[in-house]
Amino acid sequence: MLNKNQLAKYNQDHLYEYEKLMSTNEKEALEEKLATLDLEFINELYQDLYVNKKTIDDVSSVTEVKYDIKDQFSAEEITRLEQMGLDAIKNGQFAVLLMAGGQGTRLGYKGPKGSFEIEGTSLFELQARQLITLQQQTGHTIEWFIMTSDINHEETLAYFKDHNYFGYDKEAIHFFMQDNIVALSEQGQLVLNEQGRIMETPNGNGGVFKSLQKSGNLDLIIDKNIKYIFLNNIDNVLVKVLDPLFAGFTVEYDRDITSKTIQPKPGESVGRLVNVDSKDTVLEYSELDTEVANQFNNANIGIHAFKVGFIKNAVERQLPYHLAIKQLNQLDENFGVVKQPTLKFELFYFDIFKYATSFVTLQVPRTEEFSPLKNKEGKDSVETATEDLKRMKLI
Ligand code: UD1
Repeated sequence: MLNKNQLAKYNQDHLYEYEKLMSTNEKEALEEKLATLDLEFINELYQDLYVNKKTIDDVSSVTEVKYDIKDQFSAEEITRLEQMGLDAIKNGQFAVLLMAGGQGTRLGYKGPKGSFEIEGTSLFELQARQLITLQQQTGHTIEWFIMTSDINHEETLAYFKDHNYFGYDKEAIHFFMQDNIVALSEQGQLVLNEQGRIMETPNGNGGVFKSLQKSGNLDLIIDKNIKYIFLNNIDNVLVKVLDPLFAGFTVEYDRDITSKTIQPKPGESVGRLVNVDSKDTVLEYSELDTEVANQFNNANIGIHAFKVGFIKNAVERQLPYHLAIKQLNQLDENFGVVKQPTLKFELFYFDIFKYATSFVTLQVPRTEEFSPLKNKEGKDSVETATEDLKRMKLI
């Protein structure tokens, strides 16, 4: 039986009441899970991120990042960088890392977002095709690391298998799972999911490097003498996965972090790549006043190349959690299913930037490289993604 006083100390004594409604198995499962949780830490997260919520309003020390603009490169420069990129890919200097552990709640699609098909072509396939082209161009098979989470891991594996890995070398695809963290009610209490277990959700994409390490894949990258990890999101249908120009740009500058950006639209829901205290970083749109966000010229589109040596040194650093509030199904006190605003805690991958010492950014044209599939309808939706894919002759 749970200890009511102990639970009350952390405002979790509702679980004691819930337990009375549970079967022996359910009780055991609840107690086992609770024993693994650090309630003190969870309460601190609640206090820091919800009760004493801060937004970023003092931006006096925030400046524009230094950036090159692709459209200002001469044709010769582009050819030179592309060749440099192809040579580096051929020499095995790059791995590709795809973050695909998110929930995709806004799209309202149940499966892994990467398995969402537009006119018969999935987001996974759009990316796999590009790796196959690079393989044909360079003769080198790029190692492809794919982060999933427990909400979509099995389905992702099955989707790849059913589609014969899109014709890519199965041995070069490495799936690994990110971690979860508990979700809370707006009162700071643990909630039960529809299965009657303590609700947990993926802990944000910031766990990517630690999970890469924990799964043994960072060691694999190091053992193979890979020099850079190219990172991208799942949902940008126009993403250029390790395009030779960006690869060449990365090699030429050889910085800890190379980023690709676009010019944001006013009010757009994208993070802004900025410089704070001589470090490039991303100020996330969900934490930033729109007027402030509109002052900066570089939107984060989740495309970067990281030096492996930098990741190796920074991977043990603790990154801070951020808060997102989402409507999620859960059990009420009578064990009926209700949808409630729920506090989700997320790590952001770009919080690792502050441990880097050198940065460079390339701004590219939005029309060629950015069209995210975020929503069911309207902006950044199935309709806009389909139009953009057709315009670029990708489907
Ligand atoms: C993200 C960026 C934002 C950028 C925008 C561009 C973050 C924190 N924010 O915002 O700065 O302007 O993309 O489209 O990255 N993911 C996981 N595990 C998780 C959560 C997310 O793997 O627990 C993956 C998603 O599958 C996706 C990527 O991370 O590939 C971005 O996550 P998403 O939730 O789509 O972030 P946005 O809010 O769109």
